[in-house]
Amino acid sequence: MSQNHGQWTNRFSYVLAATGAAVGLGNIWKFPYIMGENGGGAFVLVYLVCIALIGIPVMMAEVMIGKFGRQTPAKSAVLMAKASGRSSAWKVTGWGGVLAGFLILSFYVVIAGWAVAYTWYGFNGSFENQNAEQIGILFSELNAGPWALMGWSGFIVLGTVLVVGKGVQKGLEKAVNYMMPVLFVLLAIMVGYAATTGNFSEAVQFMFAADFSKLSWNGVLIALGHSFFTLSLASGIMIMYGAYLPDNTSLVKTSVYIAIMDTLVALMAGLAIFPIVFANGLPAGAGPGLIFQSLPIAFGQMPLGQLFGGSFFLMVVVAAFTSSIALIESSVAWLVENRGFSRWQAAFSAGFAIWLVSLLTVFSLTGAEWSVVSLWGDIRISFFDLLDYITANIMLPLGGLIIAVFASWAVSEEISRRTLDTTPALYRLWQLSLRFVAPVAIVAVFLNLIGVLDL
Ligand code: PHE
Repeated sequence: MSQNHGQWTNRFSYVLAATGAAVGLGNIWKFPYIMGENGGGAFVLVYLVCIALIGIPVMMAEVMIGKFGRQTPAKSAVLMAKASGRSSAWKVTGWGGVLAGFLILSFYVVIAGWAVAYTWYGFNGSFENQNAEQIGILFSELNAGPWALMGWSGFIVLGTVLVVGKGVQKGLEKAVNYMMPVLFVLLAIMVGYAATTGNFSEAVQFMFAADFSKLSWNGVLIALGHSFFTLSLASGIMIMYGAYLPDNTSLVKTSVYIAIMDTLVALMAGLAIFPIVFANGLPAGAGPGLIFQSLPIAFGQMPLGQLFGGSFFLMVVVAAFTSSIALIESSVAWLVENRGFSRWQAAFSAGFAIWLVSLLTVFSLTGAEWSVVSLWGDIRISFFDLLDYITANIMLPLGGLIIAVFASWAVSEEISRRTLDTTPALYRLWQLSLRFVAPVAIVAVFLNLIGVLDL
């Protein structure tokens, strides 16, 4: 596999590539809508605390495993376990990541497909002078039947397969180099627009005034799970990217940079969206359709809105695309290593399987009756919601827990100290967080949710 990647040329390209994987639909699509569904400020605060105290240390642990092993995730973990005199069963970290990445990608491509459709709508002027209701109709029509959704998401799957199969990381890296700054600039313009024309003060109040009475334990779990999702943790990606870390690069510092950029994009997305939501009297808890039902209203009214609208959704597509490639990589690498597939075979097989599984999400969105399953009690949930919930809120935190325990308890101190290569004080802080803070927090949130603990 290494022939398809090579080592990042320098620290900057590593940070950019990892940021490209981290910044995606999670920041621009998911963060605003789950914040809206979970009451705003208190949720944002818990999310920021999770990023700082759990997400960043876990990211460092993953990059450390990759840097030590310089192999695919499961192999790197085994190498590190063996060097520390531990069982090779720790390769479970690799397994969990492959499965999580696969399942996430199955709904990710459908949402990215929405963004492709909206890029088209934006450029062809469909948002021009449309009010909130008309924009809502546009969204409902897109989801009225399976064909359009299948087509748009198929387009993303095909693009992902072609890039990953070829292994043209260089071309992609270059594209990301240009696209990420453009994404930042466009977001800044959107925030500026929202600040001047939307209901900015209500949005700021909503996002930053913490009212804990609005946050449930389930909301806390969602914030925790999202901190893993948005940083691309527990999916093998950061281990892989760490495997190509250039020498003399501080993994501690770069992890902090990546997390800060990722968080900034998420907060900016919130500040671009909620002023428009509130100014148009739309519900903050509208769910997954939130950005598709709010931003186009602004684009339809602003000067050069056609250009900005199309470009904005194009950026969302690019952000999603750089993450899709990272997401499929675990499955592709796994097939190449364990099933003897060629890279092309692996990419096409994984892509086809993902497209098939994506139909569960497609039919959930069109409202097909069979796409809603009954869980225990009288809980009825669509496949889309189920996949999203299980991956982000169960698999990723669990994976993070295992990595935290592995890196801080199982790996020998001598090895982790050397690989992490930081000051003694920072090392202790990192170790403390992974030994106690992360496991206790993750377990407590889980237990609370199933009602065992009554905090
Ligand atoms: N971090 C990406 C996002 O926020 C999603 C992702 C998760 C990508 C896991 C890779 C691995 O959209």
